[in-house]
Amino acid sequence: MAKLRVTLRVNGEEREALIEPQATLLEVLREDLELTGTKHGCELGECGACTVLIDGTPVISCLALGRACQEKDIRTVEGMADPEPHALQTAFAELGAAQCGYCTPGFLLTAEALLEEKSEPTRDDIKDALAGNLCRCTGYIKIYEAVELAAARMRGENAQPTQEAIYGQQ
Ligand code: FES
Ligand code: FES
Repeated sequence: MAKLRVTLRVNGEEREALIEPQATLLEVLREDLELTGTKHGCELGECGACTVLIDGTPVISCLALGRACQEKDIRTVEGMADPEPHALQTAFAELGAAQCGYCTPGFLLTAEALLEEKSEPTRDDIKDALAGNLCRCTGYIKIYEAVELAAARMRGENAQPTQEAIYGQQ
């Protein structure tokens, strides 16, 4: 089948690509646009590693057609640091909420969408928002704590991680 020329707006930039008509957004981002921060996990819509934001909403990019995402505002993890790391990235690093890191871009973007909607999410709000993102390394607690820490800082609070949050209960 003939390839298709598409224009996608990714992280505020217009990007052109010649893609297979059936290519998923995940394939277009990673293979055509070389934005490999979006991770290729299950390809079944189950792990959340491939999450990006489309018009501010978390979307599983392995289930979206690339050609259907023209005219939309696509945000990937490469667009989070601007140029300083986003508060979520800093908090994940401080608390060890990223271990192997494979799930991290998906968590960061899903959490970013949550914090744009709710500046003071409860632990349950965070758990609900992140329920579609799977992590095999961290046990999730550090991820939830990192989102809470970033949220507090984004509200202008001078929040610091506790020793327990960094090292766990002694
Ligand atoms: Fe898309 Fe797992 S790679 S949900
Ligand atoms: Fe390894 Fe989440 S940090 S899968």
